[in-house]
Amino acid sequence: MSDVHTDLAGRTIILGVTGSIAAFKAADIISRLTEAGAKVYPVMTDGACRFIQPLTLQTLSRQPVSSDLWGEGEGWQPGHIELADQADLLLVAPATAHCIAQFANGLAPDLLTSIHLATPAPVMIAPAMNGKMLAHAATQANIETLRQRGYHFIEPDSGMLACGYEGDGKLASVERIVETVIGFFQNQSS
Ligand SMILES: Cc1cc2nc3c(=O)[nH]c(=O)nc-3n(C[C@H](O)[C@H](O)[C@H](O)COP(=O)(O)O)c2cc1C
Repeated sequence: MSDVHTDLAGRTIILGVTGSIAAFKAADIISRLTEAGAKVYPVMTDGACRFIQPLTLQTLSRQPVSSDLWGEGEGWQPGHIELADQADLLLVAPATAHCIAQFANGLAPDLLTSIHLATPAPVMIAPAMNGKMLAHAATQANIETLRQRGYHFIEPDSGMLACGYEGDGKLASVERIVETVIGFFQNQSS
């Protein structure tokens, strides 16, 4: 059994949080990753900020929360480039259909999508959406495009969705997300 408090020691993770009803689960994901020793920098889309307060993620991560591409820090280097360079992993959980589409098409209208294009770090995506959004040909094609590029997906669960439907598209459990991240780094160093 590994020591949960050091599994992610020395790892820097950017946690992208997007505008899904499951955005509140990012708080728990941050707590668990931080407990495991990771330094977690939350980056929220405008949509995510409608579902959960940046202050919550800031307090749990003990790091500043970024959401504004245009409100960059004071250094000479744009903040998103600096953050993108520091990361060992870009994890997006929950990831909306919209975010996945932007990633697949290389769009960069906000901070998270700009970091996505600027980072050399591997990208791990935990989708969360209504089952019909997930099954849509456009979403499936976008996921396939990203898989072909070597992106890692944490498959959503099946179950009762917040939209009232039962089916696929429920954000993977926090436990499974954290285990996948830990396993990813263990594989890298073995
Ligand atoms: C109440 C509510 C819940 C939503 N939940 C989801 C969701 O779970 N997954 C998803 O892909 N989109 C969801 N959406 C739609 C996204 O918020 C919308 O597509 C938005 O443009 C996503 O922007 P972002 O990816 O930049 O955060 C939801 C919208 C509302 C109003």
